[in-house]
Amino acid sequence: MTAGPLVVLVGPMGVGKTTVAALLAERLGCAYRDTDDDIVAEQGRTIADIFVDDGEPVFRAVEKSAVGRALAGHDGVLALGGGSILDEDTRALLTGHRVVYLSMEVDEAVQRTGLNVARPLLAVNPRRQWRDLMEARRHLYTEVASAVVPTDGRTPEEVAQAVLDAL
Ligand code: S3P
Repeated sequence: MTAGPLVVLVGPMGVGKTTVAALLAERLGCAYRDTDDDIVAEQGRTIADIFVDDGEPVFRAVEKSAVGRALAGHDGVLALGGGSILDEDTRALLTGHRVVYLSMEVDEAVQRTGLNVARPLLAVNPRRQWRDLMEARRHLYTEVASAVVPTDGRTPEEVAQAVLDAL
């Protein structure tokens, strides 16, 4: 394993990466970090604003740099944005790291996130968007992950325990 975070969490938005990262950090006695937070702090604007003002390709480039910096400069638990795996270079950065994919089914995703306008990719027709999004991304999450932890019907505490069991 490459030096860096103890574990990197990937998976779709709303799956609970940040909540689970905080629980894991508590149990492992380390810090957690979230690349979405890094981007907001660095850019001084929300993720939604970056999407609207500059478009998704610019956001993915910013995200790639944020992921690279976090992988190199953080040794605790790291949560990545749900779409970070779309970028080939970002996926390559994950090689050699311990990456856990938190998965969920479409029904669970629709139920958990609903019509959340803060998530720019899901503003219209959430069920269809979710189905398409999962179809496009599932194999990419699987590609970068060394373990998969399903979250459907599980509490964040149960998911955190399953991640610890998978390490
Ligand atoms: C995105 C997921 C979000 C955020 C942005 C785009 C995506 O992160 O990076 O809204 O493309 O799935 P979370 O997974 O932390 O919500």
